[in-house]
Amino acid sequence: MKRFAIAVDGPAGSGKSTVAKMVARKLGIIYVDTGAMYRTVALHCTQEGISLEDEAAVVASLDGLNMRIQPDTEGQRIFLNEEDVTAKIRTAEIGKGASVVAAYQKVRERMVELQQEMAREQSVIMDGRDIGTVVLPHAEVKIYLDADAEERAHRRVGELEAKGETADFEEIKKMIIQRDYNDMHREHSPLKKAEDAVSLDSTGMSIEEVLQAILDITAERVREK
Ligand code: DC
Repeated sequence: MKRFAIAVDGPAGSGKSTVAKMVARKLGIIYVDTGAMYRTVALHCTQEGISLEDEAAVVASLDGLNMRIQPDTEGQRIFLNEEDVTAKIRTAEIGKGASVVAAYQKVRERMVELQQEMAREQSVIMDGRDIGTVVLPHAEVKIYLDADAEERAHRRVGELEAKGETADFEEIKKMIIQRDYNDMHREHSPLKKAEDAVSLDSTGMSIEEVLQAILDITAERVREK
């Protein structure tokens, strides 16, 4: 089959990464989690004592940052200057920081370049906020995955608790709503549905149902070509 790309965008906790991983496994293609890249920038700055609000310093820090992404059957592993930070970037605090650094155009340019490079040679399913609009505007399949904030907060609490972290539901819900607001209202590449994306609202849907819906859309679009 010809090389193809699936772009999945949507707000935090809509189920993008869980389902994208399943699609990748099912279709034997590479899964790229672009949020992990912005999280890694935030982690790097935090570790270096750089204020995330200081745009110039955050941008300058990119020069000392070597990011390597390694696809894996269990999802993707991400390395920061050769340290595996896959687990370290999964905190609510780093998620919030990622949303701050993701607003800077120079940071985005660097990440988008890396993302486009990964999709050049191989079929991918990539999730994020600007994949269908900016990173892969010619993707064969574009999905905009949403769910109501209450349900998304429940899922995030579940994920954090599964990792042994304590999580306060109201706190997490507030953070999610704030983060979505930032991501949708920033100047550069805000989160929005691409005109040609298919909207899926996963509220009340099981993950298997979301998976099947994406597989059906993909079969249709990729066969059409
Ligand atoms: O999907 P996530 O929670 O890991 O993403 C973390 C933050 O990174 C998110 O709040 C916004 C930003 N992000 C982005 O701006 N563009 C992307 N393609 C992916 C993530």
